[in-house]
Amino acid sequence: MDEGLRRQYLDAMGIESWVPRRSGGNPLTVNERQAAACPPDVKPLQPEASPSPPLWLEEVPPPTEEWVPLEMPPTEPAPEADIASLDWPALAQRVSCCTACELHAGRRQAVFGVGNRSANLMVIGEAPGAEEDRQGEPFVGRAGQLLNAMLLAIGLQRAQVYIANILKCRPPGNRDPRPEEALRCEPYLRRQIALVQPRVILAVGRIAAQNLLKSQEAVGKMRGRPFRFGEIPVVVSYHPAYLLRSPDQKVRAWQDLQQVAALLKD
Ligand code: URA
Repeated sequence: MDEGLRRQYLDAMGIESWVPRRSGGNPLTVNERQAAACPPDVKPLQPEASPSPPLWLEEVPPPTEEWVPLEMPPTEPAPEADIASLDWPALAQRVSCCTACELHAGRRQAVFGVGNRSANLMVIGEAPGAEEDRQGEPFVGRAGQLLNAMLLAIGLQRAQVYIANILKCRPPGNRDPRPEEALRCEPYLRRQIALVQPRVILAVGRIAAQNLLKSQEAVGKMRGRPFRFGEIPVVVSYHPAYLLRSPDQKVRAWQDLQQVAALLKD
């Protein structure tokens, strides 16, 4: 239709028609109008060229019957869930056969735990040393003798408490347990605590305190403060091996033991 005639019809109907024009008289394209409205740092949208499929996609052969997905292996219960239901004999057996971390390769035997399985007090240490690895019992070396004396000081025989470690296997050269080793071993200790149900836990040394309480703090910062493992009060103190090297700290350990005794009386 002739442009003049079209305008006349539109004017007669009361419709204003306005078309932006370039200086040369041609209407602006969509992109040019968008560019005029955008802040300078925002690029106007460009129509996307449809990409051609990549070559490797074209090379994929069509599915055949061989492409049926492999059957998944039957799901096994998570090891921790399994360990959490074991009784004492099954738990001890599981620990003695454990190969969950590399430490099993260097052990003479796993060191499970010892003492009264219904104890009010549970003592948790770090890991077996050479003598413990030999005898299969925690805290039997010099540190163990000091621990016995410390317990006696609050009226407890060794056989009255339950003693266990964060790790059940001896780390080579008595190095510190690695975090992944402590994690692998954790379900065993958790189960031991659940079975004993002690009224109080005494965590001796940094490794025991940090792993049990999921903390990064030094023992010196933790001792004297109230902690809990679940519902169970936890007293943090120095490791007997440290006390053998730093006897001047025994007075602090004695304060911690008195705290244990007070909690047991409650
Ligand atoms: N140190 C520990 O922490 N545990 C032991 O069993 C022996 C020494």
